[in-house]
Amino acid sequence: MGDTGITTLLRCLLVVLAVVDAAGTDYLAKENGGWHVSPSPSPSSAPSPSQKHPCLDNSPNMTENTGGEAGEVVHDYGGLEAYVTGSRHAGCCVILVSDYYGFRAPRLRQIADKVAYSGYYVVVPDLLYGDPYTDDPARPFWLWIMTHSPVEAAEKTKPLIAALKKDGMSFVGVGGYCWGGKVAVELSKTEETQAVVVSHPSLVVVHDMNEVKRPIEILGGESDTISPPLLVHQFEQALDQNKRVDHFVKIFPKAPHGFACRYNASDPFAVKTAEEARADMIKWFDKYLKQH
Ligand SMILES: *[C@@H]1O[C@H](CO)[C@@H](O)[C@H](O)[C@H]1NC(C)=O
Ligand SMILES: *[C@@H]1O[C@H](CO)[C@@H](O)[C@H](O)[C@H]1NC(C)=O
Repeated sequence: MGDTGITTLLRCLLVVLAVVDAAGTDYLAKENGGWHVSPSPSPSSAPSPSQKHPCLDNSPNMTENTGGEAGEVVHDYGGLEAYVTGSRHAGCCVILVSDYYGFRAPRLRQIADKVAYSGYYVVVPDLLYGDPYTDDPARPFWLWIMTHSPVEAAEKTKPLIAALKKDGMSFVGVGGYCWGGKVAVELSKTEETQAVVVSHPSLVVVHDMNEVKRPIEILGGESDTISPPLLVHQFEQALDQNKRVDHFVKIFPKAPHGFACRYNASDPFAVKTAEEARADMIKWFDKYLKQH
């Protein structure tokens, strides 16, 4: 690493240290094309010190039995390890991008299988390169996130999309959860994908919406403190101004951050909400990926 690299890294570190408070209520946002950690936008909605960061709340049970996986893991698809499920002859593909906990989460794979059942080849790439966030106290979230840029992850997804197109997938959509939502938004600024769906995003800022070029659906939660309804409405207003793209924005009542992929499976209301979010995502992809 050159002098400039080290200087930049140190500067980032200082910015991060300066704004992460002791309770760990760090919030991340984009600035000048990069991204950084900033304090909670709304102290009243911030979690109390005893609570975890909402992005890390209700972490997935990695050994949960969701009834078996229909797909398999491939070790190199466009340079990425990935869980793939559904028919390779589908002609249209959905890439699902994980939250901080990565592509191994059983519930995420279950969602992938269900999307595949709707007629898609579904790919869940490991854009965290075998290094998902784990609740390891020796490696706090703010330190971990510094080496997991969603903007870089979007770049790494491009060779995967190229490989999928080579394999006959004429239409490629991207669905992202939390961190993956930012990856999806970055890809919606390019010509790489036909449509994107973003569920309870983190790291996405209003300015991103000015650059969106592809039809975008944003699913927010009424009780989400990371992308609260106020912010999601600002996304919608920016998209209204951005005449290039069709968009659909919805706020799910009483839904916390993570409601689409990390819901409480013993809570019927949470299950129903997650199912509705999945159905809305599939509807959006059906509209733009299944042309006839
Ligand atoms: C995780 O899933 C496994 C297998 O279904 C189960 O035995 C275990 O109790 C679950 N853990 C938690 C914390 O729910
Ligand atoms: C999940 O939902 C059940 C049923 O509503 C509730 O009893 C339980 O406390 C919830 N678990 C968590 C971790 O919120």
